[in-house]
Amino acid sequence: MSISRDSSGTLRLAGVSLSEVAALTGTPVYVYDLGGMAAGARALREAFDGRPHLVAYALKANTAGAVVRTLVAEGCGADVVSGAELLVALACGVSPDHVVYNGVAKIDGEIDQAISSGPRGIGAVFIESVEEIARIEARAIAAGRVARVGIRVNPSLDLAGATHAHIATGHDRAKFGVPRADAARAVELVEASSHLELVGMTSHVGSHFTTTQPYVDSARVLFGLVQSMRAAGRARALRFVDTGGGFGVDYLGDGGDGAAAMPQAADFVRAARAAQREHGLDDLALYVEPGRRLVAPHGVLLASVIQTKATATARWLMIDAGMNDLLRPALYQARHRIVALVAPESAPEAAWRVVGPVCESSDDFGEHALAREPPGAVAILDAGAYGFTMASEYNGRQLPVEAFLRDGRIVAHTRRATVQSWVDERVRAGN
Ligand code: LLP
Repeated sequence: MSISRDSSGTLRLAGVSLSEVAALTGTPVYVYDLGGMAAGARALREAFDGRPHLVAYALKANTAGAVVRTLVAEGCGADVVSGAELLVALACGVSPDHVVYNGVAKIDGEIDQAISSGPRGIGAVFIESVEEIARIEARAIAAGRVARVGIRVNPSLDLAGATHAHIATGHDRAKFGVPRADAARAVELVEASSHLELVGMTSHVGSHFTTTQPYVDSARVLFGLVQSMRAAGRARALRFVDTGGGFGVDYLGDGGDGAAAMPQAADFVRAARAAQREHGLDDLALYVEPGRRLVAPHGVLLASVIQTKATATARWLMIDAGMNDLLRPALYQARHRIVALVAPESAPEAAWRVVGPVCESSDDFGEHALAREPPGAVAILDAGAYGFTMASEYNGRQLPVEAFLRDGRIVAHTRRATVQSWVDERVRAGN
């Protein structure tokens, strides 16, 4: 993250004073460094050494147009999970060929949208259950098209401890993917249809891995399946294998959640490529679906301090950003570093319990070392992924705004909805 302090002690992101941004937009505001995102995507693509690949950016991490356009300009495609995300991706310039669609419960309208985009439909609609095959086939017949599909295999790996339970997706109790034991049957069913073309095989085992091991374990399950399918003379039209997203972020800023050095995004790709080669699948393109790693480190959430409070148990720092703005701490007990927007005179020596204004005990960003004299405003770091996209209007709060930085300046920002617009909408409901 290109965050630093200038001579006056003010935090700068990509060379822009964050005090200036806060003054322009008000708080809470998400601020994104587009240049940093572009550089990260470029470095990731280089890890493929010119071999056929697709970096399908998982839009769920951050759907802001400027962010998506920045990544598209670096040659990324898109991983989408809804018709709405598909429309954003296409409107931001992603070629339909470079879109993959994950989702356990795609409604008919979304399937129609996917198979009717562009001359041949999107790159691949991923099938997540044996039951879904007939429905996608029926939609393809109705559209008079051959739908390009992939099968998402649940690798059946129990990764207890490797990531938070809420974001582990590749185990037997998860709703995601075709069970490993049913994969061969799914392939047969797809290949028996003249309206489906099996172009890819995919898996996504979970999110925020701080070592490459779980990612490679999952890739190996997928590659092993593809290898045996091919040995049986199946999957001849296959063009890619997709090992999903999940590249972790150094949220604690200690080089890797306190453990061994945090792998770079490129390390996940190199490890997956090595496994691909070992399985004799080098003729296939390798797709990956990173969301978090491309955007999280390049975004901060700025919040103003509303007031402090001292009790027997804590010194509370109450800020104007809450769990409705950044849900990750409440939902996953996630920790984000919090620093003063303007460096204090004294050293950070006091433990402040940073909390938001929302009426929930879980609206709590944890304990942070800040100066004894409370700051006027803070920056919550590594907030570029799953921040704004998970924000809500809970408690009658307005959605946070977003500001976009590039080439040392603020290139754009969004505007906060008025309190009155929320009030009007709620009062009208049911009328
Ligand atoms: N592909 C699939 C099929 C996914 O389900 C996900 C994330 C990704 C790719 C992107 O994963 P990433 O590279 O971002 O780890 N809200 C949670 C994360 C939920 C991830 C859901 N799926 C959080 O804030 O930690």
